Amino acid sequence: MSLPASTPTGLSVSVRGLVRRFGKRNVIDRLDLDIRRGEFVALLGASGCGKSTLLRILADLDHDIEGDVFVSPRRGVAFQSPRLFPWKRVWSNVVAGLPRGADRASANAALEEVGLTHRGDAWPKDLSGGEAQRASLARALVRNPDLLLLDEPFGALDALTRLKAQALVADLWQKHRQAVLLVTHDVDEALLLADRVLVMRDGVLAHEVVVDLPRPRSAGDANVNRLRVQLLDWLGVIEPAVKSTSEQSMTVRK
Ligand SMILES: Nc1ncnc2c1ncn2[C@@H]1O[C@H](COP(=O)(O)OP(=O)(O)O)[C@@H](O)[C@H]1O
Ligand SMILES: [Mg+2]
Repeated sequence: MSLPASTPTGLSVSVRGLVRRFGKRNVIDRLDLDIRRGEFVALLGASGCGKSTLLRILADLDHDIEGDVFVSPRRGVAFQSPRLFPWKRVWSNVVAGLPRGADRASANAALEEVGLTHRGDAWPKDLSGGEAQRASLARALVRNPDLLLLDEPFGALDALTRLKAQALVADLWQKHRQAVLLVTHDVDEALLLADRVLVMRDGVLAHEVVVDLPRPRSAGDANVNRLRVQLLDWLGVIEPAVKSTSEQSMTVRK
Protein backbone atom coordinates (compact mmCIF):
# COMPACT_ATOMS: atom_id res chain seq x y z
CA MET A 1 0.00 0.00 0.00
CA SER A 2 1.41 3.42 -0.94
CA LEU A 3 0.62 6.62 0.88
CA PRO A 4 -0.02 9.74 -1.21
CA ALA A 5 3.18 11.15 -2.70
CA SER A 6 2.39 14.52 -1.20
CA THR A 7 2.46 13.30 2.43
CA PRO A 8 4.05 16.29 4.22
CA THR A 9 6.42 14.27 6.31
CA GLY A 10 9.81 15.74 5.40
CA LEU A 11 10.70 12.16 4.58
CA SER A 12 11.85 10.58 1.32
CA VAL A 13 11.10 7.09 2.59
CA SER A 14 8.65 6.00 5.25
CA VAL A 15 7.96 2.31 5.80
CA ARG A 16 5.80 0.78 8.54
CA GLY A 17 5.23 -2.88 9.25
CA LEU A 18 6.60 -4.10 5.92
CA VAL A 19 6.34 -7.85 5.34
CA ARG A 20 7.63 -9.76 2.28
CA ARG A 21 7.23 -13.53 2.21
CA PHE A 22 8.89 -16.04 -0.08
CA GLY A 23 7.05 -19.31 0.50
CA LYS A 24 6.68 -19.68 4.25
CA ARG A 25 9.63 -17.47 5.06
CA ASN A 26 9.21 -13.81 6.02
CA VAL A 27 12.36 -12.40 4.47
CA ILE A 28 11.17 -8.97 5.59
CA ASP A 29 9.26 -9.20 8.84
CA ARG A 30 7.47 -6.07 10.07
CA LEU A 31 10.24 -3.69 9.10
CA ASP A 32 10.11 0.06 9.81
CA LEU A 33 12.32 2.63 8.08
CA ASP A 34 12.41 6.42 7.77
CA ILE A 35 14.85 8.32 5.56
CA ARG A 36 14.76 12.09 5.84
CA ARG A 37 15.00 14.30 2.78
CA GLY A 38 18.66 14.72 1.90
CA GLU A 39 19.84 12.06 4.33
CA PHE A 40 22.53 9.56 3.25
CA VAL A 41 21.79 6.13 4.73
CA ALA A 42 23.90 3.00 4.24
CA LEU A 43 22.46 -0.49 4.69
CA LEU A 44 24.63 -3.43 5.74
CA GLY A 45 23.70 -7.03 6.44
CA ALA A 46 24.75 -10.61 5.79
CA SER A 47 24.31 -11.98 2.30
CA GLY A 48 20.74 -13.20 1.81
CA CYS A 49 19.28 -11.17 4.70
CA GLY A 50 16.89 -9.24 2.41
CA LYS A 51 18.67 -6.00 1.45
CA SER A 52 17.95 -6.28 -2.27
CA THR A 53 14.41 -7.40 -1.54
CA LEU A 54 13.89 -4.20 0.46
CA LEU A 55 15.44 -2.04 -2.26
CA ARG A 56 13.32 -3.61 -4.99
CA ILE A 57 10.20 -2.84 -2.96
CA LEU A 58 11.29 0.78 -2.47
CA ALA A 59 12.04 0.98 -6.22
CA ASP A 60 8.45 -0.10 -6.90
CA LEU A 61 9.62 -3.32 -8.59
CA ASP A 62 7.90 -5.66 -6.13
CA HIS A 63 4.32 -5.17 -4.98
CA ASP A 64 3.70 -8.48 -3.25
CA ILE A 65 3.91 -6.95 0.22
CA GLU A 66 2.05 -6.07 3.38
CA GLY A 67 2.48 -2.83 5.30
CA ASP A 68 2.66 0.86 4.53
CA VAL A 69 5.30 2.13 2.13
CA PHE A 70 5.81 5.74 1.13
CA VAL A 71 8.66 6.46 -1.25
CA SER A 72 9.40 9.73 -3.01
CA PRO A 73 8.16 9.34 -6.60
CA ARG A 74 11.24 11.07 -8.04
CA ARG A 75 13.74 8.32 -7.47
CA GLY A 76 16.71 6.92 -9.35
CA VAL A 77 17.90 3.32 -9.01
CA ALA A 78 21.25 1.65 -9.74
CA PHE A 79 22.15 -2.00 -9.22
CA GLN A 80 25.39 -3.92 -8.80
CA SER A 81 25.28 -4.95 -12.43
CA PRO A 82 24.93 -1.87 -14.69
CA ARG A 83 22.13 -3.50 -16.76
CA LEU A 84 22.73 -1.46 -19.91
CA PHE A 85 20.94 -2.37 -23.14
CA PRO A 86 23.72 -3.69 -25.45
CA TRP A 87 21.89 -2.49 -28.57
CA LYS A 88 21.69 1.14 -27.43
CA ARG A 89 24.55 3.61 -27.34
CA VAL A 90 25.54 4.88 -23.90
CA TRP A 91 23.65 8.18 -24.20
CA SER A 92 20.54 6.36 -25.37
CA ASN A 93 20.78 3.97 -22.41
CA VAL A 94 20.88 6.94 -20.05
CA VAL A 95 17.54 8.31 -21.29
CA ALA A 96 15.91 4.92 -21.96
CA GLY A 97 12.44 4.89 -20.41
CA LEU A 98 12.19 8.64 -19.89
CA PRO A 99 8.70 9.89 -20.66
CA ARG A 100 10.03 12.64 -22.93
CA GLY A 101 11.93 10.04 -24.99
CA ALA A 102 15.34 10.13 -26.59
CA ASP A 103 16.69 13.48 -25.46
CA ARG A 104 20.40 13.92 -26.09
CA ALA A 105 20.67 17.11 -24.01
CA SER A 106 19.33 15.37 -20.89
CA ALA A 107 21.65 12.42 -21.52
CA ASN A 108 24.65 14.73 -21.89
CA ALA A 109 23.80 16.61 -18.69
CA ALA A 110 23.62 13.35 -16.72
CA LEU A 111 26.78 11.97 -18.37
CA GLU A 112 28.61 15.17 -17.48
CA GLU A 113 27.62 14.68 -13.82
CA VAL A 114 29.51 11.38 -13.81
CA GLY A 115 32.43 12.50 -16.02
CA LEU A 116 31.40 10.37 -18.98
CA THR A 117 30.40 12.87 -21.68
CA HIS A 118 33.17 11.61 -23.98
CA ARG A 119 31.70 8.08 -23.97
CA GLY A 120 28.16 9.07 -24.94
CA ASP A 121 28.41 7.56 -28.42
CA ALA A 122 30.12 4.35 -27.27
CA TRP A 123 28.46 0.94 -27.11
CA PRO A 124 28.10 -0.64 -23.64
CA LYS A 125 30.44 -3.52 -24.58
CA ASP A 126 33.28 -1.04 -25.10
CA LEU A 127 33.04 0.48 -21.61
CA SER A 128 35.29 -0.48 -18.69
CA GLY A 129 33.57 -1.76 -15.54
CA GLY A 130 33.90 1.64 -13.87
CA GLU A 131 32.56 3.45 -16.96
CA ALA A 132 29.57 1.11 -17.21
CA GLN A 133 28.78 1.71 -13.55
CA ARG A 134 29.02 5.48 -14.09
CA ALA A 135 26.65 5.15 -17.08
CA SER A 136 24.25 3.29 -14.81
CA LEU A 137 24.54 6.11 -12.26
CA ALA A 138 23.90 8.69 -15.01
CA ARG A 139 20.71 6.80 -15.86
CA ALA A 140 19.67 7.03 -12.20
CA LEU A 141 20.46 10.77 -12.16
CA VAL A 142 18.76 11.73 -15.42
CA ARG A 143 15.37 12.18 -13.75
CA ASN A 144 16.88 14.63 -11.27
CA PRO A 145 15.84 12.36 -8.39
CA ASP A 146 15.39 13.46 -4.80
CA LEU A 147 16.02 9.85 -3.74
CA LEU A 148 18.77 7.51 -4.96
CA LEU A 149 18.43 3.77 -4.33
CA LEU A 150 21.81 2.12 -4.87
CA ASP A 151 22.19 -1.67 -4.52
CA GLU A 152 25.90 -2.50 -4.12
CA PRO A 153 26.71 -0.29 -7.11
CA PHE A 154 30.48 -0.61 -6.58
CA GLY A 155 30.48 -4.28 -5.61
CA ALA A 156 31.97 -5.57 -8.86
CA LEU A 157 34.63 -2.87 -9.30
CA ASP A 158 38.37 -3.20 -8.64
CA ALA A 159 39.67 -1.40 -5.53
CA LEU A 160 40.92 1.79 -7.22
CA THR A 161 37.87 2.21 -9.47
CA ARG A 162 35.71 1.59 -6.45
CA LEU A 163 37.37 4.41 -4.50
CA LYS A 164 36.83 6.76 -7.45
CA ALA A 165 33.18 5.74 -7.73
CA GLN A 166 32.70 6.30 -3.99
CA ALA A 167 34.22 9.77 -4.30
CA LEU A 168 31.90 10.50 -7.22
CA VAL A 169 28.82 9.52 -5.20
CA ALA A 170 30.07 11.64 -2.27
CA ASP A 171 30.51 14.64 -4.62
CA LEU A 172 27.10 14.17 -6.23
CA TRP A 173 25.47 14.00 -2.83
CA GLN A 174 27.28 17.13 -1.60
CA LYS A 175 26.08 18.94 -4.72
CA HIS A 176 22.45 17.77 -4.96
CA ARG A 177 21.67 16.52 -1.44
CA GLN A 178 19.30 13.84 -2.59
CA ALA A 179 18.28 11.27 -0.01
CA VAL A 180 20.38 8.13 -0.61
CA LEU A 181 19.89 4.52 0.44
CA LEU A 182 23.14 2.70 -0.35
CA VAL A 183 23.26 -1.07 0.09
CA THR A 184 26.84 -2.16 0.57
CA HIS A 185 28.81 -5.03 2.11
CA ASP A 186 31.74 -2.68 2.80
CA VAL A 187 31.69 -1.30 6.36
CA ASP A 188 34.27 1.39 5.53
CA GLU A 189 32.31 2.54 2.48
CA ALA A 190 29.26 2.92 4.73
CA LEU A 191 31.20 4.85 7.38
CA LEU A 192 32.96 7.17 4.92
CA LEU A 193 29.78 8.11 3.02
CA ALA A 194 26.71 7.89 5.22
CA ASP A 195 24.96 9.99 7.86
CA ARG A 196 23.51 6.82 9.34
CA VAL A 197 24.36 3.14 8.95
CA LEU A 198 21.70 0.46 9.39
CA VAL A 199 22.25 -3.25 9.93
CA MET A 200 19.57 -5.60 8.63
CA ARG A 201 19.03 -8.89 10.41
CA ASP A 202 16.14 -11.32 10.83
CA GLY A 203 13.94 -9.30 8.50
CA VAL A 204 14.22 -5.99 10.34
CA LEU A 205 16.66 -3.12 10.76
CA ALA A 206 18.19 -4.46 13.93
CA HIS A 207 20.88 -1.84 14.58
CA GLU A 208 21.86 1.66 13.57
CA VAL A 209 24.77 4.02 14.11
CA VAL A 210 24.61 7.74 13.50
CA VAL A 211 27.89 8.82 11.88
CA ASP A 212 28.14 12.32 13.28
CA LEU A 213 31.63 13.00 11.91
CA PRO A 214 32.85 15.77 9.57
CA ARG A 215 33.52 14.96 5.90
CA PRO A 216 35.71 14.02 4.17
CA ARG A 217 36.35 11.12 6.53
CA SER A 218 39.34 8.84 6.72
CA ALA A 219 39.20 5.09 7.33
CA GLY A 220 42.11 5.56 9.78
CA ASP A 221 40.28 8.09 11.96
CA ALA A 222 39.86 6.93 15.58
CA ASN A 223 36.11 7.67 15.60
CA VAL A 224 35.60 5.77 12.34
CA ASN A 225 37.55 2.89 13.90
CA ARG A 226 35.31 2.86 16.94
CA LEU A 227 32.16 2.70 14.81
CA ARG A 228 33.73 0.03 12.56
CA VAL A 229 34.36 -2.24 15.56
CA GLN A 230 30.75 -1.76 16.66
CA LEU A 231 29.34 -2.54 13.19
CA LEU A 232 31.58 -5.58 12.65
CA ASP A 233 30.45 -6.89 16.01
CA TRP A 234 26.78 -6.52 15.02
CA LEU A 235 27.54 -8.18 11.68
CA GLY A 236 29.11 -11.10 13.52
CA VAL A 237 32.61 -10.38 12.25
CA ILE A 238 35.51 -9.86 14.63
CA GLU A 239 38.27 -7.45 13.64
CA PRO A 240 41.85 -8.75 13.68
CA ALA A 241 42.95 -6.08 16.20
CA VAL A 242 40.44 -7.17 18.82
CA LYS A 243 41.17 -10.90 18.49
CA SER A 244 43.82 -13.09 20.03
CA THR A 245 46.81 -13.74 17.78
CA SER A 246 46.17 -17.47 17.62
CA GLU A 247 42.96 -16.96 15.65
CA GLN A 248 42.53 -16.47 11.92
CA SER A 249 42.62 -12.90 10.57
CA MET A 250 38.84 -12.67 10.11
CA THR A 251 36.31 -15.02 11.64
CA VAL A 252 32.59 -15.20 11.20
CA ARG A 253 30.85 -15.95 14.46
CA LYS A 254 28.69 -19.03 14.50
N1 LIG B 1 12.00 -14.01 -6.10
C1 LIG B 1 12.41 -14.75 -5.05
N2 LIG B 1 11.85 -15.95 -4.81
C2 LIG B 1 12.23 -16.68 -3.72
N3 LIG B 1 13.15 -16.29 -2.83
C3 LIG B 1 13.73 -15.11 -3.02
C4 LIG B 1 13.40 -14.27 -4.14
N4 LIG B 1 14.14 -13.13 -4.06
C5 LIG B 1 14.89 -13.27 -2.96
N5 LIG B 1 14.66 -14.44 -2.34
C6 LIG B 1 15.30 -14.90 -1.10
O1 LIG B 1 15.16 -13.89 -0.12
C7 LIG B 1 16.34 -13.81 0.66
C8 LIG B 1 16.88 -12.41 0.61
O2 LIG B 1 17.42 -12.14 -0.69
P1 LIG B 1 18.08 -10.78 -1.05
O3 LIG B 1 17.14 -9.68 -0.72
O4 LIG B 1 18.56 -10.86 -2.45
O5 LIG B 1 19.33 -10.73 -0.04
P2 LIG B 1 20.57 -9.73 0.04
O6 LIG B 1 20.40 -8.68 -0.99
O7 LIG B 1 20.56 -9.21 1.45
O8 LIG B 1 21.79 -10.57 -0.19
C9 LIG B 1 17.31 -14.86 0.13
O9 LIG B 1 17.19 -16.01 0.92
C10 LIG B 1 16.79 -15.11 -1.27
O10 LIG B 1 17.10 -16.41 -1.67
MG1 LIG C 1 21.58 -8.15 -2.68
